Amino acid sequence: MVARAVKLAPSILTADFGRLQEEILAADHAGADLLHLDVMDGRFVPNITFGPLVVETARQATQLPLDVHLMIEEPEQFLEAFANAGANTITIHLEACRHLHRAVQQIVDLDCQAGVALNPATPIESIREIAPFVDQVLVMSVNPGFGGQQFIQTMTSKLRRTRQILDEFNPTCDLEVDGGIGVDNIRDVQRNGANVIVVGSAIFNGTGTVRENLTALRDACNVAPYSGAQNNISAA
Ligand code: DX5
Ligand code: ZN
Repeated sequence: MVARAVKLAPSILTADFGRLQEEILAADHAGADLLHLDVMDGRFVPNITFGPLVVETARQATQLPLDVHLMIEEPEQFLEAFANAGANTITIHLEACRHLHRAVQQIVDLDCQAGVALNPATPIESIREIAPFVDQVLVMSVNPGFGGQQFIQTMTSKLRRTRQILDEFNPTCDLEVDGGIGVDNIRDVQRNGANVIVVGSAIFNGTGTVRENLTALRDACNVAPYSGAQNNISAA
């Protein structure tokens, strides 16, 4: 099994939108690897956030790769708008898309990296056919729609099983996890195969600074090698 370096992807969902550029720059300067942008339409998920304009604002604020997570129905209608706004990776939900292969191909044709996301209740077997065509699979560890929710414990084993499928069908594919991650469980998701880790409220929370929070998460990933890993991943 390939050892993969962990990429930390702060989600701006709980950031202070009145100071959005400042918040983004703080994450950038504190060593974020990507910036995760949560787009919600009030249909696929019971919440509405923002569209391409905010992605464009983020694009102007930072050179970090923009990891755009589309929690919207019929995402194929908006792929070009998000690519033009500066997205580097566009992740669409398997549950929101009738012709997933075609939509993934559209993302690739727009010169973006393509990701497919799975809700907590969606079986991982659904990714077998699409895995060879994507750059990233996103395992949701909360039900999408809100920041600050509790990590669903069974998603740890889902990560491990997803990594096994990816190792078979697309070994270079990134495995991203999103929802309820903090200093107490980041090492756990890492050792179960996640190498792109989204963190919202444990970074943007108005208590510690963005730098302090991000450093604590990075330190939690870099503890001594885990001795009981189920899949030999040693990404520390
Ligand atoms: C949830 C979003 C997440 C969210 C994560 O629907 O996709 O990216 O911002 O926030 P935390 O880390 O607070 O669970
Ligand atoms: Zn997200």
